[in-house]
Amino acid sequence: MADIPVLIDCDPGQDDAVMLMLAMASPELDILGITTVGGNVPLARTEANARRIRDLMGRPGIPVHAGCDRPLVRPLVTAAHVHGETGLRGLDLPEPVAPLAPAHAVDFIVETLRARDDVVLCPTGPLTNVALALAKAPDIAGRVRRIVLMGGAVAGGNVTPVAEYNVFADPEAADVVFRSGAPITMIGLDCTHRALLGPRELARLRLSRSAAARATLALFDHPSAWDPPRYGGRQGLPVHDACVVGYLLAPGNFAGRDCHVAIETSSRLTLGQTVVDWHGRHGSASNATVIGDVHATAFLDDLVERLSR
Ligand code: RIB
Ligand code: CA
Repeated sequence: MADIPVLIDCDPGQDDAVMLMLAMASPELDILGITTVGGNVPLARTEANARRIRDLMGRPGIPVHAGCDRPLVRPLVTAAHVHGETGLRGLDLPEPVAPLAPAHAVDFIVETLRARDDVVLCPTGPLTNVALALAKAPDIAGRVRRIVLMGGAVAGGNVTPVAEYNVFADPEAADVVFRSGAPITMIGLDCTHRALLGPRELARLRLSRSAAARATLALFDHPSAWDPPRYGGRQGLPVHDACVVGYLLAPGNFAGRDCHVAIETSSRLTLGQTVVDWHGRHGSASNATVIGDVHATAFLDDLVERLSR
């Protein structure tokens, strides 16, 4: 029963691809559309990759829109060294068949959020499209049901010691979003580094013949998944963006608190840091629910089960 209407904004990207497959394998979600942004790899690839995953999952009816190919004011810094030049390192998919939808992603976001007020907006890349939509139509901040985004961190970045990639790539856009007044759930590295796809999950995915299971193994079943634990003593690879969909499907598996979050947009040393007032020192009103923990086994069991369908 599709009872959660979602609009996904992403930059596929290996973990974005797992997130999309999880969303498309979950009948609880009514995917109104997918918008794409330059991020992990340039826009030409992120939009084509979103369409490739859509073809793979047999969902040609979900519109895919292309959006901004660069951040608001800075040049695009990709993460191709992580995701590969194609953006889907390990997964070779044919050229996309179903076409790109004509409207710009920003216009699609505005039109969708003006047409109904029950939409969950799920950004999992740099927030450029979302920020421009809010700039073009500030009224959508009061209409969106919630923005559930993957980005930021309370403690520790993955691009610099303090900055997480999605926010680092376009800190000005993140600043617009977190100042917008829209209800935000921020799923950052503190959560996603606790939910690693490891040997146990990969072994279970190998038992499935589903396209999603095979694609996830192609993306993640490689030697670095077996490296010594890098993330706080746990072995495996993060599937950051899949946590956004996991949260929508089972919010009880995630824990967090309402905090004030500010974005560093000027310091050379800490550019892109999400300054999360986790202990309420700042005294400013909360502008986000920050997810700091996850019941990893429950989330990963659900992820594997749905991808294996
Ligand atoms: O820092 C992790 C985030 O950056 C994920 O969304 C990943 O896809 C990359 O975009
Ligand atoms: Ca992403």
